[in-house]
Amino acid sequence: LVRSLSTSASRQAAIKHVTVIGGGLMGTGITQVAAQSGHNVTMCDVSDDIVQKGLARIQDSLKRVVKKKYKDDPTAGQKFFDSTMENIRIDTNVERVAASTDLVIEAIIENLDIKQKLFSSLDKVAPQHTIFASNTSSLPIKDIASTCERQDRFGGLHFFNPVPVMKLVEVVRFGATSNETFQSLTDFGQAVGKTTVSCKDTPGFIVNRLLVPYMMEAVRMLERGDASAKDIDVAMKLGAGYPMGPFELTDYVGIDTCKFIMDGWHELDPDQPLFKPSELVNKLVAEGKLGMKSGEGFYSYKK
Ligand code: 3HC
Repeated sequence: LVRSLSTSASRQAAIKHVTVIGGGLMGTGITQVAAQSGHNVTMCDVSDDIVQKGLARIQDSLKRVVKKKYKDDPTAGQKFFDSTMENIRIDTNVERVAASTDLVIEAIIENLDIKQKLFSSLDKVAPQHTIFASNTSSLPIKDIASTCERQDRFGGLHFFNPVPVMKLVEVVRFGATSNETFQSLTDFGQAVGKTTVSCKDTPGFIVNRLLVPYMMEAVRMLERGDASAKDIDVAMKLGAGYPMGPFELTDYVGIDTCKFIMDGWHELDPDQPLFKPSELVNKLVAEGKLGMKSGEGFYSYKK
């Protein structure tokens, strides 16, 4: 924090209070890493039930972090756990929370209309200096920001699942994002312990633009009958050093999420063969086989 303040007088003040919108997988992960690094965070969602469940998920994940980081010092581990949890508030009234926050990070459903309405209402209540960021994985930041006055204080902060473990944040700027905002978002990404990369507002930014077509190419390989899902997974883990094979990863991310991303890109660029829809993916999603979260995808996770 001190570093980011001292390097340039023109910089915006360091981010202290963060509002995270969305109590799902990404929202809870972002809340956790921001709280772990000493930020005051308020996690908002539409119902008390969702934010309570989100808080429970954070506690479980934080216990895993503590177990790893403080395995030789349980007293320090407990202190870290307590101080992190003390940094977290939950709320269901996002307008009230945003009225006194430095940074809003949105991690809700991938629906442009809902995101635009949300930011447009927050734009009216948030202080002048407040920066808005979206964790979208596939929608253009420019479009999400289009209903806001504060175009210069808008950007993307794209985290990866599982957020407490994955070391990267993509910092996304579009045409209107100011240098100060881009720098503040970069400083924040680093303050939460991540390595940051700079991305333009292009479909999939860096990681998903390469990863999602790769996952879909694996599906096409399976559809052609060239190899089994298991063999493709083993091959990519042992032959290319990936921690998960493409089918394990698609099940982990959610087959519906991958389909949603690919369908959007296919619409934008129908001639691109990498973005072609897959019958197998469409069938699995229609059957509710969405991957780990539904108990079945390419593999079965039923106990
Ligand atoms: N919270 C806290 N800690 C966690 C965690 C969580 N949610 N999940 C895993 N961990 C910790 C574990 O405690 C464990 O710690 P240890 O090393 O002390 O034992 C460590 O991470 C490894 O976990 P596991 O032993 O349970 O399992 P693995 O060794 O198989 O690792 C994995 C799991 C980290 C998920 C690894 O398989 C991996 O890196 N997979 C690839 C994930 C990936 O590519 N993510 C990006 C997806 S794309 C995306 O998110 C973008 C979106 O827009 C679609």
